Amino acid sequence: MGLYRGVSIVGAGMTRFHNKLHADKTGRELFVEATLEATASVDKGFRLREAGALFLGNFTSDIFEGQGHTAAVMADWLGINPIPAFRVEDACASSGAALNLGVMAIASGMTDVVIVGGVEKMSRLNTEQVTDALALAADTSYETSVGFTFPSIYGALASAYFRKYNATWDQLAAVTIKNHRNGTLNPKAHFQSDIRTTANKLGEKDGRTFKNELEFLRSDLNPIVASPLRLFDCCPVSDGAAAVILAADDIARRYTDTPVKVAGIGQASDTIALHSRSDFTTLKATVKAVKDAYAMADVKPKDIQVADVHDCFTIAEVVATEDLGFFPYGQGGRATEEGRTALNGELPINPDGGLKAKGHPVGATGVAMAYEMFKQLRGQAGKHQVEGVEIGLAQNVGAAGASVAVQVFRRG
Ligand code: COA
Repeated sequence: MGLYRGVSIVGAGMTRFHNKLHADKTGRELFVEATLEATASVDKGFRLREAGALFLGNFTSDIFEGQGHTAAVMADWLGINPIPAFRVEDACASSGAALNLGVMAIASGMTDVVIVGGVEKMSRLNTEQVTDALALAADTSYETSVGFTFPSIYGALASAYFRKYNATWDQLAAVTIKNHRNGTLNPKAHFQSDIRTTANKLGEKDGRTFKNELEFLRSDLNPIVASPLRLFDCCPVSDGAAAVILAADDIARRYTDTPVKVAGIGQASDTIALHSRSDFTTLKATVKAVKDAYAMADVKPKDIQVADVHDCFTIAEVVATEDLGFFPYGQGGRATEEGRTALNGELPINPDGGLKAKGHPVGATGVAMAYEMFKQLRGQAGKHQVEGVEIGLAQNVGAAGASVAVQVFRRG
């Protein structure tokens, strides 16, 4: 299994992910900002009109902004009509799926160059409204109708995981601490404060001191959102956009001497409702998507040197590190506690802060992961650079794994 024609990333851009900072911006403004940054990042120059198609990941601008038909809007705002513009909706995996389709468009010979992007402007609505909008990605007949929301769906997953593996919530706290620490090194991250600093700040306001991060995270200043998940187990509600420029391998060096190859892609789906699954503690769609991506790239889990995985809730990162084959089942949380996934660990996971600290404007997340891998594999990730990495992976999950998109990237 393979592509008839290889595909590389030759440019990448993203806005900072945040809520309040983008209060005055629309989704289309955020997307233009990210795409212009991607254009400017192409070493030997790129004009938007060279693109043969636009693939846009977006979950629901319809509800978040009252604007449908989003891909055409974005093409118009980029001034690249009459380019074919496709909107891809796979919940939180929308732009990971858009990226896979962009790769396929070039591999098929349809075009040589495409723009793939993702955008979500969520914070115009309040948290309750955002929660309801996100819940559209769950099973409306069996889950949302009886009160399930995404924090509670992942809470159920965490409870099942704890029971099956005798795991502890402290292992999830280790994910929080690591990802917030990484976020302090990423100027594009939503949260740029580590847990020690946050504990001191909130403790001071409340006249309390915490002897370490864990004591703070166990306290009432980190309230339960959906048991056993607390506030700092959740990704925030963010606005933002990301874009990459893909080119066929045979012309990629017209644009840069250091392209990043999309060496393997995988995409899979699963039943939406959790109760229909035989096991909540693994996402079957991740297992299938990564198997295909590894086969296409001709790599094994041990070859991956850096990865961005979909930590919309801390438990999701633990499960991902197992489903992707990085650690045995039941061991992902312990591996995090032991520092094996830290920036200086054997396999750095979410060096950019992950969804937990970097933020999660849902439709933008998959392409933001590709942005991070582009920077990492070219040695341009700044303070959160993992030294000397040549092979990276991105895993983007829709809902609780009903859609999963995976890519393996290789330095060109
Ligand atoms: N982690 C850490 N701190 C957070 C946070 C998070 N996820 N979300 C909000 N905060 C902080 C805010 O920065 C703010 O701090 P400040 O007062 O110092 O500025 C404070 O908590 C209150 O923020 P607010 O936006 O009012 O929080 P909220 O209670 O309305 O929302 C959640 C909190 C967890 C419910 C919300 O972030 C959420 O729904 N997250 C999950 C989103 C989601 O499901 N995405 C899809 C995944 S599949």
